[in-house]
Amino acid sequence: MASSSPLLLLVLPLLLLMAARPSAAVDPIATDCSKNGTSAQTQSSIDAVLASLVPRTSASYYATATAGKSPSTIYGLAQCRGDVPKQDCALCIAAAEQELSSSCRGSVDARVFYDYCLLRYSDANFLGLPDTGYTLILLNTQNATGVDLAAFDRAQTKLMSRVAAEAGEASRKGLATDTTKLGGGGGAAKTTIYGLGWCTRDITAADCGLCVAQAVAEFPNYCRYRRGCRVIYSSCMARYEVYPFFFPIDGSEAPDQDQAGHQDKIILNHP
Ligand SMILES: *[C@@H]1O[C@H](CO)[C@@H](O)[C@H](O)[C@H]1NC(C)=O
Ligand SMILES: *[C@@H]1O[C@H](CO)[C@@H](O)[C@H](O)[C@H]1NC(C)=O
Repeated sequence: MASSSPLLLLVLPLLLLMAARPSAAVDPIATDCSKNGTSAQTQSSIDAVLASLVPRTSASYYATATAGKSPSTIYGLAQCRGDVPKQDCALCIAAAEQELSSSCRGSVDARVFYDYCLLRYSDANFLGLPDTGYTLILLNTQNATGVDLAAFDRAQTKLMSRVAAEAGEASRKGLATDTTKLGGGGGAAKTTIYGLGWCTRDITAADCGLCVAQAVAEFPNYCRYRRGCRVIYSSCMARYEVYPFFFPIDGSEAPDQDQAGHQDKIILNHP
């Protein structure tokens, strides 16, 4: 018995990590279906776009597709977050395709958002156009703990403005991750804040920087002092947490379920 506990200590964070990964890949954060009423031709364009996107996105993390002749043309885009392992990307895109095929059957405009990927199609050609209309905000119901809240807010704001600037650099290919540490005075443990911004690859690096900056600018309105927050648009998103949520994730710093906690969800500017 005594010899099994060190092993368990090693294995437990790994199991938690493995348990956390598939859910981030296959549980949708939000699904949005609009423009109900597809013709048979449009439905066959949708089916063709989905069939084309899934294998190509699984292979290379990003794909766009167009199918059908006007007025039944459908445009699609699918993307995995660039840091996610390949098998999680494939799981996520397969789940996204199933989600839209079932939940959005009959809709001409559909989007689904996951932690690890997104999938979208529409009868309007949205490719290349930064879209900050549909807005999904997920905020942790808890304030940060063990830190001075004003200092936490300053550190988070500084981190995320750096993340937005980095997302605008072409070399980042639409994905910026960064961290900052604060606190640690009087023997207290330091808190690390993890920040991420990412964009769909159809928009330019400059538009990506602007899109992430716009998302970050919503934080003070909804998320001040919160342990974690996400603002998700159709073309980009920004997120910070007090636990590691982007890869590579070291087994020793596996996501802490207490820190992840409960989220409130707010949806704005419905198209
Ligand atoms: C879409 O339209 C169909 C047929 O008109 C209807 O049965 C269905 O309830 C509608 N779905 C939504 C989500 O409005
Ligand atoms: C977070 O902290 C602020 C400032 O102290 C306080 O006004 C607010 O009620 C707190 N919110 C939660 C959810 O604890």
